[in-house]
Amino acid sequence: MITVNKENLPVHIGFIMDGNGRWAQKRGLPRKFGHREGAAAFRKIARYCKKIGIRYITFYAFSTENWSRPKDEIDELMKLFGEYIDEVSDYAEENTRLIFLGDKSAFGKEMADKMSELERNSRDFSDMTLMLAMNYGGRNDIVHAARQIAAMVENKEIRHTDVDESLISGLLYTGGIPDADLIIRPSGEKRLSNFLIWQSAYAELYFTDVLWPDFTPKELDKALEDFASRKRRFGGV
Ligand code: IPE
Ligand code: IPE
Ligand code: MG
Repeated sequence: MITVNKENLPVHIGFIMDGNGRWAQKRGLPRKFGHREGAAAFRKIARYCKKIGIRYITFYAFSTENWSRPKDEIDELMKLFGEYIDEVSDYAEENTRLIFLGDKSAFGKEMADKMSELERNSRDFSDMTLMLAMNYGGRNDIVHAARQIAAMVENKEIRHTDVDESLISGLLYTGGIPDADLIIRPSGEKRLSNFLIWQSAYAELYFTDVLWPDFTPKELDKALEDFASRKRRFGGV
C-alpha cells in the first residue's frame, strides 16, 4: 500500500547503503550475511521507488575506499554484484534505465563489458533511472571530469574560460542526470563518505539509526515525509 504523499517527492534520491556488517554482527553472523540482506533491501527499495514514481535513484554499493577491506569480504561483494548484473540482464520489462557510476575496469573485462551492455540496452528506458555507484568516489568523479577537460584544452577544443559548472556537471559519471535532492544514510553515521559530493551540494540529508538491511519502504516513507516538510532555499530567502 502506498501511504506517502505524492506531492513534493524528490526527483533524485541517493542511498548510502550502510550498516550491513553491523546487522550481521548483531546476530553473531559473519559480515557477508549482512551484505546478502543488504542486497535484498536494495531490490525492495528500488522496486518501491519505481512504484511511487521516483525518477532517479542512486545506490552507493562500493566506494573507492572499500578496496581496503579484507579480501574475503570484497570477494563476497563482487559475487553479489555479479549475481545482480546477471539478474538484470533482461531489464526490458521494467523500463528502467541502468547506469553504473565509477570506473568499471576495476571489476575485470567480463563484468565491465556486461555493465556497459546493460547501460547501452537500457538507454531509452524512461520510467526510472537506477544508478549503482560501484568503485565510486566523489573525488575520483571530479578528477575523471578534470582529466577530460584538460584533454579538451590540450586539443584546443575549448579554452580555459569555457570551463564552467555546467561543463563539469556534464562530464561527471552522472552527466545529464539532475543533482540529488535527498541523500539517505542509515546506520547512524552522519557523513557522506565520498558519495556524490558535487551532486549533493544542495541535497537535503536524512540520517537514521536503522541499519540498511532493515531499511524498508516504511522507513523510506518516513524520510519522504521529512523531506516534504523541508524548506529548500538554494541560497535565496
Ligand atoms: C555496507 O555496509 C556498505 C558497503 C561498503 C558495502 P558496511 O559493510 O559498511 O557495514 P558496517 O558499516 O560495517 O556495519
Ligand atoms: C560508505 O560506507 C560506502 C558505501 C555504503 C558503499 P562505509 O562503511 O564504507 O563508510 P565509512 O567508512 O563508515 O565512512
Ligand atoms: Mg559501513
